[in-house]
Amino acid sequence: MSSGETTFSAPRGMRDFYPEDMAFRNRLFETWRVSAERHGFEPYDAPVVESLELLKRKSGEEITDQIYFFQDKSGRDLALRPEMTPTLARMVAARQGALTFPLKWYTIAQCFRYERMTRGRKREHYQWNLDIIGERTVAAEVEVLATAVDALSSLGLDAAAIRVHFSSRALLAALLVALGIEPQHHPATFLVLDKRGKLPDPELDATLRASGLTPDQCQAVWRLLGIASLDEALAMLPPGTDVARDLTEFRAMLTDYGLADIVQFDIAVVRGLSYYTGIVFEAFDAQRQFRALFGGGRYDNLLASVGGRPETGVGLGFGDVVIAELLAELGKITPGAAPGDLAVGYMQDAQRSCAMRLAHALRREGRQVDLALVSEKPKHFFGRVSKRPFARAIYIGPDDVTRGTARLKDLATRQETEIPLPG
Ligand code: HAM
Repeated sequence: MSSGETTFSAPRGMRDFYPEDMAFRNRLFETWRVSAERHGFEPYDAPVVESLELLKRKSGEEITDQIYFFQDKSGRDLALRPEMTPTLARMVAARQGALTFPLKWYTIAQCFRYERMTRGRKREHYQWNLDIIGERTVAAEVEVLATAVDALSSLGLDAAAIRVHFSSRALLAALLVALGIEPQHHPATFLVLDKRGKLPDPELDATLRASGLTPDQCQAVWRLLGIASLDEALAMLPPGTDVARDLTEFRAMLTDYGLADIVQFDIAVVRGLSYYTGIVFEAFDAQRQFRALFGGGRYDNLLASVGGRPETGVGLGFGDVVIAELLAELGKITPGAAPGDLAVGYMQDAQRSCAMRLAHALRREGRQVDLALVSEKPKHFFGRVSKRPFARAIYIGPDDVTRGTARLKDLATRQETEIPLPG
């Protein structure tokens, strides 16, 4: 590099999408869109830039530290959204009187988090969000899960490849109360449990003690993680609780939806975001080689906390990074850009007008046509179109114009069909 020249790359953790990357991204987004609409979700969108105040108040503690923020020229504190849920709550609260509940909305949101970069973690990612606002029963949880599992299945991942682990913050809270741990200690306890496996146990134990738990209570919290089944957990609760009823109903609905093989109880699922109040879940590859593919749960207090009327919520976020890693590992991503349909080229400038009129007519018919921008020798044209590649090609020479026909070549079978040229 000569002095004074700088080469630029995308800021660390941010992502360039070349055409070969867009092929997978478009396929994934289309799969998400089709699954969402197949399950009755409506699309919505919002700006990537949000008020810092909203995000700070409504995101999980960990995310708050990761927010990219700035001031605009009028001194407003703004930020790039790290997740979509606070924005969704703000939008719903703003029109709460006019909306019909339960509402089922989806979006594909670009999100930014200043994360430590590890496998599966970038500083920019796209997140498919599915949310149901205004449904109290666990039918909402099963519906969002079924939609996400449907997308996984469309991507070629079946029950053998995926596991969804679920638990419930309400269950955990009830178990903690049964152990004599007061509700004011629950948020700190949830945060510590969510960090299990990510930070050393002694460090987590020290955090629990610092939050006011006695050594005996700390031990009891760790023992809770030994609960192996939903029945074992429910047996520890007093009879007739709402939590037990919801979880029993949830389990029955999973069977009705054909999800019982994929979705399993796991007391260790807590989730890092502070707004969850009920069932929480995370999906992983069956080998647990990768980070979570998607995560979500019930958040019944979020609407009220952004100034809306109290309304229940259930949703999930499904990122584009981990799923791409998993599909690549399983050989389920076709590398390269999406193939083109039809390339049109011509030998000399004298055939340009004919080629342009042909391309114009074909495009009006709805065909995807890549028209050569300059005349090319046949070797150059066919070499170029084989690289992208294209499915079909029409190459126009002087004789074709004289005859008034050209050959449409199928580049895979090499079969040729005569087609008329525009007069
Ligand atoms: P989350 O668990 O923070 O939840 O993110 C959801 C998913 O987004 C993760 O499972 C992962 O696939 C992806 N993801 C998150 N951060 C990154 C990152 N730095 N790099 C790559 N992928 C990432 C939420 O954000 C909730 N708002 C989801 C939700 C919607 N809950 C209710 N509704």
